[in-house]
Amino acid sequence: MNVLITGGAGFIGSHVVRLFVKKYPKYRIFNLDALTYAGNLENLKDIEDEENYTFLKADINNIEEVEGLFKKYNFDQVIHLAAESHVDRSIHDPLSFVRTNVIGTMNLLNAAKETWKDNLLDKLFYHISTDEVYGTLGETGLFTETTSYDPNSPYSASKASSDHFVRAYGETYGMPYIISNCSNNYGPNQFPEKLIPLFINNIVDQKPLPVYGDGNYTRDWLYVIDHAKAIDLAFHKGNNKSTYNIGGFNEWKNIDLIKVLCRIMDKKLDRSPGSSEKLITYVKDRPGHDKRYAIDASKINAELGWKPSVTFEEGLGKTVEWYLENDVWLKNVTSGAYQQYYEKQYED
Ligand code: NAD
Ligand code: DAU
Repeated sequence: MNVLITGGAGFIGSHVVRLFVKKYPKYRIFNLDALTYAGNLENLKDIEDEENYTFLKADINNIEEVEGLFKKYNFDQVIHLAAESHVDRSIHDPLSFVRTNVIGTMNLLNAAKETWKDNLLDKLFYHISTDEVYGTLGETGLFTETTSYDPNSPYSASKASSDHFVRAYGETYGMPYIISNCSNNYGPNQFPEKLIPLFINNIVDQKPLPVYGDGNYTRDWLYVIDHAKAIDLAFHKGNNKSTYNIGGFNEWKNIDLIKVLCRIMDKKLDRSPGSSEKLITYVKDRPGHDKRYAIDASKINAELGWKPSVTFEEGLGKTVEWYLENDVWLKNVTSGAYQQYYEKQYED
């Protein structure tokens, strides 16, 4: 079986690729990635020589390239993670999110439809999506699989659009598909533009911790390897034309999470208690900032038996350790273009 995983050099993708390459030696795993600023082959050093693994440097925005690869390798299944993934970047440059997340997904759907047209039955297009498509919650309630889409950022609008196209290809052309919508991931290999690795990096360097608005925004956090395990289950056991919500049952207000992270960092770095918290700096809010995300993951639990295996305390501890042990990885990804991004995003 030839499985195409897109975006496999990124944060979540690299954990999915590793899990599949190791767990399924009989599958041929193809990792298609354009290696944008967020893609990094260092994330896959330990598996790059495995016999069942092939890396394909390609851009999903390039239809000829995508079609050529489908013809050449005859992929049987697709797990699609390649995307522009950062909300703040989508506010500065929405069009690049439309290109990759909408048109890029369309290019993959079209190439799959063309290649699979005579034999759709054992094929699968699995689209990895986000809980942000549902918009924002108030103080109570949870996102379920039937919550209406109501995206607020250019990022979430582009992901919502790609979800709709995947469903439309299922209904219109009979393309077998699964979509999963997951909450905030954290763990090793996450690019330090996202809250947790950004703050770990800034604490190490004793730089300000830029908290948007009043910090009273709520997110549900899931350890990335638990997300990869949920993807494995949905891929193998999920029902055609199904959506699965994936979450950690682990809601935190940003400011509370940041204070826990500060305490862990003080201990690990042997700094005096309270020293990291002093770096907290309230800054201009993110425009259109969604107040609260919270996932009801009971469907994937009931149907597929998935639940998170790592507690937040364990996961956060492992994450901090990984970043402290991989300071060279962190230095490499924060040199060059990262500095310009950082100045532009946080100049005020
Ligand atoms: P990421 O930004 O870390 O990685 C994205 C990967 O896609 C990178 O390797 C990048 O090189 C690649 N890519 C980008 N544009 C490409 C293109 N045009 N052609 C080929 N490859 C391209 O993202 P992530 O956080 O790992 O997210 C992966 C997927 O999971 C995304 O679809 C995202 O929307 C979704 N998701 C992320 C989270 C989260 O918390 N990070 C939560 C739910 C869903
Ligand atoms: O919910 C799933 C989504 O989670 C994924 O689809 C996205 O790809 C992923 O980036 C993430 O989106 P968020 O916007 O929630 O994640 P981020 O880490 O950017 O921000 C988390 C919270 O922290 C959010 O409320 C904004 C806040 N924040 C973030 C940054 C980067 C700050 O207060 N300061 C910051 O500097």
